[in-house]
Amino acid sequence: MCYTGGYEMERQFWDQNYLMRFSAHEQELRNLFLSLYHGDIYAWNAFSEMLYRCWQQRPAQLKELDSLRQEDPAWYKGNSLVGMLMYVDAFAGTLDGVRSKLDYIQSCGVNYLHLMPLLQSPEGRSDGGYAVSDFRSVQQELGTMEDLEALASECHDRGIALCLDFVMNHTSEDHEWAKRARAGDFEYQTRYFFYDDWTIPHRFEENVPQVFPTTAPGNFTWCHDAGKVVMTTFYPYQWDLDYENPVVLNDMTENLLFLCNRGVDVIRLDAVPYIWKELGTNCRNLPQVHSLVRIMRLVCEIVCPGTLLLGEVVMEPSKVVPYFGTEDSPECHLLYNVTTMATIWHTLATKDVRLLRHQLEQVFSMPRGFTFLNYLRCHDDIGWGLDYSYLGKFGIGEVPHKKFLNDYLTGKWPGSPARGELYNDDPRLGDARLCGTTASLCGIETARLEQDAEKLEWALRQDIALHALMFSLSGIPVLYSGDEVARENDYSYHDNPLTAPDSRYLHRGKMDWAAADRRNVPGTPEQIIFTSLSRLEALRREHRVFQGQADTWVVQTFDDSILGIGRYYQGEKLIALFSFSDRERILNIREDGNFADLLTGDRVDLSCVSLLPGGFRWLLCDFQQSDAEPVPASNL
Ligand code: GLC
Repeated sequence: MCYTGGYEMERQFWDQNYLMRFSAHEQELRNLFLSLYHGDIYAWNAFSEMLYRCWQQRPAQLKELDSLRQEDPAWYKGNSLVGMLMYVDAFAGTLDGVRSKLDYIQSCGVNYLHLMPLLQSPEGRSDGGYAVSDFRSVQQELGTMEDLEALASECHDRGIALCLDFVMNHTSEDHEWAKRARAGDFEYQTRYFFYDDWTIPHRFEENVPQVFPTTAPGNFTWCHDAGKVVMTTFYPYQWDLDYENPVVLNDMTENLLFLCNRGVDVIRLDAVPYIWKELGTNCRNLPQVHSLVRIMRLVCEIVCPGTLLLGEVVMEPSKVVPYFGTEDSPECHLLYNVTTMATIWHTLATKDVRLLRHQLEQVFSMPRGFTFLNYLRCHDDIGWGLDYSYLGKFGIGEVPHKKFLNDYLTGKWPGSPARGELYNDDPRLGDARLCGTTASLCGIETARLEQDAEKLEWALRQDIALHALMFSLSGIPVLYSGDEVARENDYSYHDNPLTAPDSRYLHRGKMDWAAADRRNVPGTPEQIIFTSLSRLEALRREHRVFQGQADTWVVQTFDDSILGIGRYYQGEKLIALFSFSDRERILNIREDGNFADLLTGDRVDLSCVSLLPGGFRWLLCDFQQSDAEPVPASNL
């Protein structure tokens, strides 16, 4: 951070457009900043100057994109976006490799691409790239910053939005600041949480839970070189940044804007609930975190208004929603629908939809402006953050239930076709989490191994139905790369000493391009999944009933193994039914209108709807043409 003296004098020379946006938010931004930093006007001046500098460096074509998006601020809220999350190396080796595969990505219907962390990070101490040692350069093996810009620019030409992580809670122990802090430079030590001895760390530990209780126990690490203790909430090589130091906010914001100026459209704020710490608290979701997120939002509104913030808030529902902020004071544009994701896997195991219904009722009662990112699987484990107070009403206790879910999804439970592995199994708390790909958790891997055609059919149906459920929700559906061709678990991570201790690598395997080619071979699981998902995405895009503005509700199915979701928008009504049962079911659904099956075009009598085990139905009534003949499938 450098302060050159008074942006007040400089602002008369500022660009008018910029000045207008800055002035519109100045008062709020300044108040937030000064209240966090005890009225430090020098820090505020430096911060404001830095923002203008970043705007000056913003390329013209990105400014144009900003203007277009400002004209249509709801550009990401409709039904047009489908996302995909991938590792650059696993998918195509390098950034240029990804660029050369944009045709494939588009053939998957994807127009929102999230690349996993690709900035410099020490090998073997990288936490999958989440330990960043330089926020301004790309990992050498993946390419260069210019390659990233070229990829972003080609994505824009093709109408694809690019998402990248911003790992703001910590740096790698190899980051320049950390190196200087380790060498004893006190100024750099104040950018982290350094303590002379274990007294304060031990007091923190009384209230702070552990993120990686078995792979990286504790929240502090002894730094031998500095002769001090440093806070490390995640791995010992990830040093928590202290945002109480304004230099940290200033320089990290500049790093964030640097990425935005390379053409990144969506910034995933990694581990955002953790970014402010206070002794005596659990150091999660503190009020100052919300001030910081609001500051980030205002910064983007001012410097790069086309950019979206996606909060990674993997917490219970009551802690997630506040990260949307309020109508007057919004924080994140997008949040993960994490509880729904975990509840879907709970439902697969229990074959009982009551908790999922309850969860969706809460999601459906939220303001429509809240845009969730819906997903089945991602690079992380599935944590069992379910609504245990609701489950308690049915006599289901948290610890035994987690054990059941893990037993079922690792295939230990009799009759379960799932194949997952445990993650951070903490026997003291009974708190293991779970890893595995969608296909393997749905039973496709087991069915193939056992060469059981009937099981395979059921598992494929289940996999497609779960995707259909994700597509039935408002927001942005995001596929995990490989799921579009039923990718199975990759057990080879056990053989690599660097990855073996972290079972998340089970579902971080390389893209198998030979398998992906089988998407063109009729009857293969790859082809069945690929064409089904493509079809669902196309229908989702074509029908306004999937708009984010639609009314949504839970449909009574009178059967606890079948989930029903209703949607209505401008004359179109969709009844979506999802079976978690292992038997065929016949349902009597009480909804008005003449319905046709959206996939086949056949007229459907709602008093007698059949559902195959693990199957789903999308039933549509178009009130504008409800008395007309059903629309033939070929026209859908
Ligand atoms: C996020 C990432 C996870 C990583 C952690 C620490 O939760 O999703 O993969 O381990 O942050 O950066």
